Amino acid sequence: MPGLLLGDEAPNFEADTTQGRIRFHDFLGDSWGILFSHPRDFTPVCTTELGRAAKLAAEFSKRNVKMIALSIDSVQDHLSWCKDINAYNGEQPAEKLPFPIIADKDRELAVQLGMLDPDERDKDGIPLTARVVFIFGPDKKLKLSILYPATTGRNFDEILRVVDSLQLTAYKKVATPVDWKPGDSVMVVPTLPDEEAKKLFPKGVFTKDLPSGKKYLRYTPQPE
Ligand code: BEZ
Repeated sequence: MPGLLLGDEAPNFEADTTQGRIRFHDFLGDSWGILFSHPRDFTPVCTTELGRAAKLAAEFSKRNVKMIALSIDSVQDHLSWCKDINAYNGEQPAEKLPFPIIADKDRELAVQLGMLDPDERDKDGIPLTARVVFIFGPDKKLKLSILYPATTGRNFDEILRVVDSLQLTAYKKVATPVDWKPGDSVMVVPTLPDEEAKKLFPKGVFTKDLPSGKKYLRYTPQPE
């Protein structure tokens, strides 16, 4: 079955993009990566999403995340659409965005990566791409995927939030609870014994008492 599951390695595809031909693993290098797909160029929701993504590019870069978009049109269409996206952002209508857009004109990658939305079709009845977000770690393994239908725009603040959560897990061995925001307390993972947690988190581990008597709700201030 096409698609990617958590832990799968990113396929090392070659593709034409608005910034030239790429090989995906070389593009990612040692960075984290986010690949986000779009149903089509010159469509309203996608234009707002790419505009917001462009505005947040410095935030992704600060987190060492390389951004790349995908849409099922040609490089030429993408470049022309970029002018609209920049104009939507109130900027010069330039062909450049701070990240490349893959031209998946024949939907080969969209099929390989399980990105098609069977409910949204073009005028010839062919499925469009859904709004997929894949986040890859520096080991090129899939750490997170989000799948929205074509008709629902994503929340890029949420995408940055999940990057922060993924990186806290990768570098500080903690989990983040419901509605966590940067700066909030985080959770000690269940597999870490109390003694090790005390050593690992010098700011302290705080356990909430529960009717079961089990001490699994363990918080610690967000590590630096
Ligand atoms: C949009 O980007 O606005 C869109 C694209 C495909 C289906 C529905 C909406």
